[in-house]
Amino acid sequence: MRPQPLAACLVLAVLLPLGAAAQAATPAPAVPVPTAPAATGPAPAAVTGRFDNGRVLAYTCQGCHGITGYKNAYPSYKVPKIGGQTREYLSQALTEYRHGKRKHPTMQAQSMSFSEQEIADLAVYLSTVK
Ligand code: HEC
Repeated sequence: MRPQPLAACLVLAVLLPLGAAAQAATPAPAVPVPTAPAATGPAPAAVTGRFDNGRVLAYTCQGCHGITGYKNAYPSYKVPKIGGQTREYLSQALTEYRHGKRKHPTMQAQSMSFSEQEIADLAVYLSTVK
């Protein structure tokens, strides 16, 4: 039977690229990969802060918290030092403002605009600021 190999070739030539395309299009199925210990690490705490995003977000804090003598530019009132505080302290303070457990209109407004993730980001970044 002569035509058979040729037909087989044609079929393959058509099917192979299709198969490849289909494979490329479908994301690999989520195979449970044996996880590194880091994934189950010691911190059951909700979110891991991202330093770089924290730096971006902290830009708006500088106007009040970034000034020598810990006063904002205008009107001149005292603000606490936040750079270099511990992560736990910073995220707790911001979370408390966010939930209204700490009352201060400015800081409540600030922290309400952030998600939990963003508060974690800020805390990671600010804890490294001297
Ligand atoms: C308009 C001025 C202003 C801006 C902007 C501002 N803060 Fe504040 N912040 C204050 C003042 C005033 C306090 C003190 C509030 C109080 O007495 O509870 C404070 C308190 C805090 C505290 C509690 C510190 C402590 O030791 O009790 C944290 C943490 C904090 N701010 C973080 C931030 C972060 C992060 C940002 C930027 C996303 C930010 N603040 C932006 C004025 C500001």
